[in-house]
Amino acid sequence: MDSSAFFLSAGEQDISALSCFSERIRAEMKAQIKQITLVLATALGLFGMVFGLLFVLQLETVADSMPEPATDMVASTPTPAMEIQAKAGATLFRQNCAHCHGDDAKGDEGPSLYDLTRSDARIARIINEGIKGEMPKFGSKFSEADIQSLIAFLRTLKG
Ligand code: HEC
Repeated sequence: MDSSAFFLSAGEQDISALSCFSERIRAEMKAQIKQITLVLATALGLFGMVFGLLFVLQLETVADSMPEPATDMVASTPTPAMEIQAKAGATLFRQNCAHCHGDDAKGDEGPSLYDLTRSDARIARIINEGIKGEMPKFGSKFSEADIQSLIAFLRTLKG
């Protein structure tokens, strides 16, 4: 091999080593960018979750501490649809609630349910989840429509 051929092949090697090197760097950078993106996405996701949770918790606390308007379903004049619903609720009440709250809902073992100042949502929750040691939960027994009928009935109890 004469010396010029040697230099030539050495030069080629250099170049190929260089391009191989830069390819490796590129691949590494790609992997790093992927990793950083993943970490950022995860962090963002976690942030979102924590903030979402805080927000929901805060809403709950605010809802719990706010005086409740009792006006959800107390329309000034009940519509026929509401009257039918309330009648269905009255039947459900007689079958499931009267033995504790009284046939007239004015209280027996359980309190009177006249003039409730709780919101519809709160009453629905009480019926669904019960009150520990006081009142059974009816969540698995009643449909959402049943609950709404019961609430419609309770809203007719005034005075
Ligand atoms: C085993 C008896 C029992 C049965 C059955 C029962 N309750 Fe109750 N309920 C109670 C008692 C006792 C309380 C009061 C608990 C307390 O104040 O801690 C109560 C509380 C409530 C309250 C909250 C009243 C208020 O002023 O905060 C509502 C609303 C209510 N019941 C609705 C119902 C409905 C509707 C049914 C039927 C689906 C029902 N209950 C069935 C015993 C019962």
